[in-house]
Parts: sequence; C-alpha cells; structure tokens
Amino acid sequence: MTLVSDRAGLVDWYRTNRARSAAIFGSLTPSAYYAAPIPLRHPFVFYDGHLPAFSYIVLHRRALGGAPVDAEMEALFQRGIDPADTDIAGRLRRIDWPSADAVRGLVARWDDAVIDDLAHAKLDDPANPLLREGESAFNILEHEPMHHETLLYLVAQLPLDAKHGPVPDVRDVLPPPSEPVLIPAGTATLGVRRGAGFAWDNEFDEHVVAVDAFAIDVHDVTNGDYLAFVRAGASPPPFWIERDGAYRLRTVFGEIPLPASWPVYVSHDEATAFAAWSGGRLPTEPEYHRAAFGAPDGSERAYPWGDAAPTAAHGNFDFRRYDPEPIGSSPAGASAWGVHDLIGNGWEWTSTPFAPFDGFAPMPSYPVYSNDFFDGKHYVMKGASPVTSHHLVRRSFRNWFYADYRYMFATFRRAYDQGVTRP
Ligand SMILES: [Fe+2]
Repeated sequence: MTLVSDRAGLVDWYRTNRARSAAIFGSLTPSAYYAAPIPLRHPFVFYDGHLPAFSYIVLHRRALGGAPVDAEMEALFQRGIDPADTDIAGRLRRIDWPSADAVRGLVARWDDAVIDDLAHAKLDDPANPLLREGESAFNILEHEPMHHETLLYLVAQLPLDAKHGPVPDVRDVLPPPSEPVLIPAGTATLGVRRGAGFAWDNEFDEHVVAVDAFAIDVHDVTNGDYLAFVRAGASPPPFWIERDGAYRLRTVFGEIPLPASWPVYVSHDEATAFAAWSGGRLPTEPEYHRAAFGAPDGSERAYPWGDAAPTAAHGNFDFRRYDPEPIGSSPAGASAWGVHDLIGNGWEWTSTPFAPFDGFAPMPSYPVYSNDFFDGKHYVMKGASPVTSHHLVRRSFRNWFYADYRYMFATFRRAYDQGVTRP
C-alpha cells in the first residue's frame, strides 16, 4: 500500500496511470478518438480530458483551493455519467468536442499542477475533510485505473481498423473436470476498518456476516459452457461475432476463434439466466467472500492465496495481458477451498444488489461516487479483470453495474444451495 507520506510513490503512481492512459488513447485511429462505440457512453475524447480534469478539480481546486485553468473545459470534462440517462447522453452527443491538440494542451497543464501537488502540497490534513488521511490524493490515483478498464471495454467494441494493439495470445486448454466445492457454514468479514488506509465510501464499515453452507464451482463458466446455452436459444454475448456459422471472440484488440476454455463475459442478467438454466444460481456477495477469503480452520485471508501482496503468479489481473486466459491458469492464486480465479480473469458477478453497508457515509471528496447507484438496479461484482490495476485488488473493493449492461469484463460461476450439486 502506498502511504500518503511517500511523495515519490504517489508521483510515480500518477505518472504510471497517465502513461497507461496515453497508451490507450494512442491505440486509437484519429477518427476513433471521436467515436462512442457503446450507446449511451461518451466518445473517447471525453475520457482523454476527463481523467486529468477530474484529478485537477478534486485535488487542486476543491481540496487545495486552487483556481481553474479553464473553467469551461473543466466543467465539460468533469464527470462521466451512468448509461441510463438518455437525455444527458443525447445532449452529450451534440457537444462540439475540442480538437485532440486543444485537449492535450489543457491536459499538460492539469497534469503539471497535480504532479506538483502530489510532490509538495499538504495532502493529509485532519482539519480538512477532503484531505483526511490523504483522501483526495488516493481518490484521483484510484479513479484513473478504474477508467482504464472502462476505456478498454470501449476499445474492445471498436472495429479492428479503428485500433491497433498487441496480437492476442490464443492459448485454449481446459483443466480437468471438477465438482463444485462444499463450503460449510461460517462467517465472512465484509468491508474494511476505518483508519486502515484509503478505501471508497461503499467499503465501510467493516462487519461480519453469517453464511450458510453452500457449494460453488471451482472454475468460472466458460465460453464453451455458454455456447450450449446459446445453442438452446440464448443471445450470444456482445463479445461474440458469428461468421460462417461459427462464433469468434472479440478480444480487446483482435478477433479470434472462440476459445472454449476462457471465462465467458456476460451481463448480470445473462449470468443469472445461465445459472438457473444449468441448475445453479449466482453466489451472494458474502458467499463470494467466504469462497475467496475464508479457510477451513475459520480464519480469513487478505487475498484468496493468503496474505502475500498480489503478483502476476496469483491471477490474470494488473495488465499481465488484455484478455482472459484459460480457466484455472493461475493455481498459485486459488483460495483455501481450491476455488480458482476469484481475483483476476474477469470480475465475478454476485446476486447481491449494490447497497450501502451499515455506517456508510458519502465520501467528502466524491459524494456521488456510490450514492447515486444505490437504486436496487445495480449488482455487486467482486475480484478483478485482466485490466484491473493491482492497486484495486483488495478484499473490500466492490464494483457494480446494471443488471443488463453487457460490455464489462465480467464473468461468473455458479453457487448451489447445500446438498444441491450440479446435475
Ligand atoms: Fe470518472
């Protein structure tokens, strides 16, 4: 964990974020810069401005009281929206977006100021709610990698001639078949203790929940598994393309024969429907915690594999690659129960609606971060995808999306009530 006193670490983290953003925008053709490949999402140009503008507004202007560089442009780039609001989306489509050069001129000025703040400003100030325990600094440093992921699922939906990136690794090999694992009744600790370092508002407060016995799949549901569902009449996921009677997979930068052994990326609704069709259900958020972090002796771990900091051996996350890999490819990351890929290789859908924990309070530096989404229509995802930064890999981290949103790098596995096993 980077501490707020580690100035060089904060600056390095910011620069790493910015370099990754630049690489993503650099993978687009000039015309794709203005494309919005997913309906109700912004064009790429918005995110190019949004990332440093958000950092500048949150840290330099609001927390530290600095002046705008360009108030009009900062208002334009300030906030992304949820895809439900068609009125706003329609208005945004009519915006006359600035040129790439104009955006990048502003970006350089915002970046310089933010880097100077991270290096020299008073970032931890108990008297300022926006700076308590370095909140605004960590907010901006974790905000940008979240957008790397949302940017890359926009890139994945672009046509091949609108982007260029590495050739995907197409290894496709299934592990031996396995039975679901029975996890006895026990407890799971959700959330995180205040004062233990930065976390988003929806991760508080820490609390213990009782979890009944259940069984859970050792592996995620694969494209091969899901193909049977599609053949039975379900719609193919948007990552699949049908050509000459066979399905191919849209990777982030390419298109390959459908790898049967990779986890399928689907919406919450699709995951729920597949689970029911095949005799299971989605795990709840507490069940995910129990399967991922619990152990037979009743103890709990920081990560599925134990308490060691995440590395590339533990799972397919932190940009080891852009795309999934065959299920079970990271045995060193398996949980105490032998459940694989709980962190990495795709977010894991749960059946739990996104809701505040007891003790929730909107965070001063970003009060709408979670609060706008406690509507019963969003569901919790846990874990990580291939393009989730290691900075976001922690037990209490929660992600969420609309039930019918189909573009996330999100997969699932089935849970079963006690005594019920896969038919
Ligand atoms: Fe944002």
